[in-house]
Amino acid sequence: MPDTEPGHPPDLMEKLVSLCKRRGFIFQSSEIYGGLGSVYDYGPLGAELKNNIRDDWWSAMVHRHEDIEGMESGILMHPDVWVASGHVGGFTDPLTECRNCHRRFRADELPQVAAGELAAQQCPVCGTTGEFTEPRQFDLMFKTFMGAVEEEAAVVYLRPETAQGSYVNFRNVADSSRQKIPFGIAQIGKAFRNEITPGNFIFRTREFEQMEMQFFVKPGTDDEWFDTWRERRMAWARSLGIRSERLRYHPHGPDELAHYAKRAEDIQYRFPFGWQEFEGIHNRTDFDLTRHQEQSGRKLEYFDQAANERYVPYVVETAVGLNRALLVVLADAYDEEEVEGEARVVLRLAPHLAPIKLAVFPLVKKDGMPEIARKLTDDLREEFNAFYDESGSIGRRYRRQDEAGTPFCVTVDGQSVEDDTVTVRDRDTLEQVRVPTGSVAAYVRDAIAAARRSG
Ligand code: GAP
Repeated sequence: MPDTEPGHPPDLMEKLVSLCKRRGFIFQSSEIYGGLGSVYDYGPLGAELKNNIRDDWWSAMVHRHEDIEGMESGILMHPDVWVASGHVGGFTDPLTECRNCHRRFRADELPQVAAGELAAQQCPVCGTTGEFTEPRQFDLMFKTFMGAVEEEAAVVYLRPETAQGSYVNFRNVADSSRQKIPFGIAQIGKAFRNEITPGNFIFRTREFEQMEMQFFVKPGTDDEWFDTWRERRMAWARSLGIRSERLRYHPHGPDELAHYAKRAEDIQYRFPFGWQEFEGIHNRTDFDLTRHQEQSGRKLEYFDQAANERYVPYVVETAVGLNRALLVVLADAYDEEEVEGEARVVLRLAPHLAPIKLAVFPLVKKDGMPEIARKLTDDLREEFNAFYDESGSIGRRYRRQDEAGTPFCVTVDGQSVEDDTVTVRDRDTLEQVRVPTGSVAAYVRDAIAAARRSG
């Protein structure tokens, strides 16, 4: 994994992979069997961080917009859905193979192969020149069978995007929620793609989760809504605490546009391996709804009572990967520094996203301190994911929490026993303040809210 981008610590990807395993964020899938290509499991801290990002997106999109409804469709759908959407036969990547080392590549990622000059292309893995096969189209959708007997069963697909589940439910959601256009349908869920070149850790994987929103608008207002959503989505990326200088827009040129899109822009992040897509915003026109109308024979029109007009709405889509968002958050938060002559690794996660909000330590394992610390942890757990730790020196306990991105560490010391106060240490400034034990929850709640406002 090349790490060439300025601004990030050297070898950041390697360090992140190692930290994620060591601290229980992310593990290779089925590791004890040698792993499964480009599928990852999320450990205690990873699952927590992922949930926090997921909840943040849901609240930003669904709860804070009266004109957006949430829903959840199945991963398995009627096979005709994927015929209508153009995915059957059309969701492919051009694949080429090096005859010498048998490694496979996306043909469009090898410049000479893409230009049709196979003889000139050197293999990036084994170095042999001129051994690439003629590119052939490779289907990215995973197939499986529905029914008891495989030979008689229907072929169904693991969905490659959540979007189609929102389109086929357009009427159901509109009618049941009594939303009027413009309005949106938001979904979070798993998607599967048999990627030829997955990689860069969890950046591109075969199983991942998407957070997508389809905004249905009157044709003719789509350009304006596209501009609105591209700005709102950039604001959300910044609200995760991501540095502005590592975010930019990337408008798609005509050769990059998906078959369904009139206009598309990516929000890119400057990963350690270069600028890459973080989120996509697409103007999908009436392509999907029209195709589903034709394929299903069911009307997916909208009747605008005020204007006494009937039309198939246009769709402005925002689509971001949850796992990719997690990688962005981790890459941006990772920091190394020296504190009092000692190296410190710290994840400067936005406090509202941090997996553990606060850790509670008794300074020593005696004199009534563990009892006070345990009781305080239990009380705090009513509201926060709080963690109790009494093992090792206080310095080591702080370092462990720094690596986990825990924004606050509370220490119960000798004075706590006397006057019912504790110290709260801030992960980033390293400052410690003394607060009454009963005020810790309010202190942390206010500090998280304040960090969010300033972020
Ligand atoms: N419904 C539109 C759609 O699926 P996309 O650009 O193919 O558009 C949307 O995917 C987002 O999903 C991407 O911006 C990326 O964040 C994430 N994504 C796509 N493929 C991925 C993969 N193989 N692994 C992880 N995340 C992926």
